[in-house]
Amino acid sequence: MGGRIGKHKLRCIVCGSEYGPAPIHWCGECGGLLEVVMELPKRSIFVKIRGRRWFVWRYRELLPVDREDCIVSLYEGGTRLLGLGEFNGLSVYVKVEGDNPTGSFKDRGMTVGVSKAVEFGFNKVACASTGNTSASLAAYAARAGLEAFVFLPRGKVARGKLFQAIAYGAKIIEVDGSFDDALRTVVNHVKEGAGAYLLNSVNPYRLEGQKTLAYEVYEQLGSVPDYVFVPVGNAGNISAIWKGFKELRDMDLIDSVPVMVGVQARGAAPLVDMYRGDGVFRPVENPETIATAIRIGNPVNWRKAWSAVSESGGWFLSVSDGEIVRAQLELARRFGILVEPASASAYAGFLKDIDKLDGTVVIVTTGHGLKDPDVLSYWDLQGLV
Ligand code: F0G
Repeated sequence: MGGRIGKHKLRCIVCGSEYGPAPIHWCGECGGLLEVVMELPKRSIFVKIRGRRWFVWRYRELLPVDREDCIVSLYEGGTRLLGLGEFNGLSVYVKVEGDNPTGSFKDRGMTVGVSKAVEFGFNKVACASTGNTSASLAAYAARAGLEAFVFLPRGKVARGKLFQAIAYGAKIIEVDGSFDDALRTVVNHVKEGAGAYLLNSVNPYRLEGQKTLAYEVYEQLGSVPDYVFVPVGNAGNISAIWKGFKELRDMDLIDSVPVMVGVQARGAAPLVDMYRGDGVFRPVENPETIATAIRIGNPVNWRKAWSAVSESGGWFLSVSDGEIVRAQLELARRFGILVEPASASAYAGFLKDIDKLDGTVVIVTTGHGLKDPDVLSYWDLQGLV
């Protein structure tokens, strides 16, 4: 590919301890999560890349990979930014992450995370998942020739996603309980020395891939929007996208950053509770929603997401299952965009808060509608079809 690959270090988001590039997820001092701190190139990098292919590695100088020969890619990223036209005096766009190779935004993260697994010399990778992370990890592991172990909450993963994980050859471990239980199980598994590289969003490298959505939106619009609506589950993606916008600001490419709005499903909304309540984070015990991808009660990245929303002057809101499926059908029938229920929650949140907005809005739809055809029976139940 040529070109310099991004220099970086790791830093604890709680106590600020710093580490060199390493396959670690938590701070050795305080146990906090880590984030990647990039040595950012000059702003002219965005001129240099203009002729390059639209995919995550278009931004390779901004990504923390030390060895180009370890890059594992399926040409992820470069997804459509579709205009919805004039909408209550607003200029509204949908970022269609279902365009990615396995049908969700996870591919942006996995291309970086699995490349790091190869660079660090792992031959096994692992994750817990509500479905999309496992589908994505399975595909990238197949591409890299690594063994993938995916821990799934039994009976709670949409069929299309389970089908993908099986098709790409991952080893499936079903855990009785919720996604939060599956995540605890896989974390214990890797901590007990299973020798697998953990690729959930506690992995700071994976989130670096996901920040490229912000760069793409900036290039596609020629500026940044006033608001970005993002569905929130384990809370990694909103944090990653925010980091991308902050880096654009730090490179002096933009003066102002968008307001970040995090949307959760009503039955799985600990960050909304925190925002509306006393500012203390409390997990939700038995999360429940039709949007299985974000059926998460104890988001590991809550601190990062909280900072993203508060630093940007944004907010969290929740939407009901009924609002989610109505928004899903509206996106499909009015605009020709079929997304899965979790993704439709961002559009539902936008519709709910439309009167608060002004200017340009980007709604991030995170996964393809084909992943979860069983939602059809819920549409039926709601009298929508
Ligand atoms: N939308 C979709 C389609 C997802 O699959 C997820 C997360 C989210 C939104 C929320 O993103 O966790 O970064 O806040 N899915 C994970 C998984 C948990 O296992 O596939 P987040």
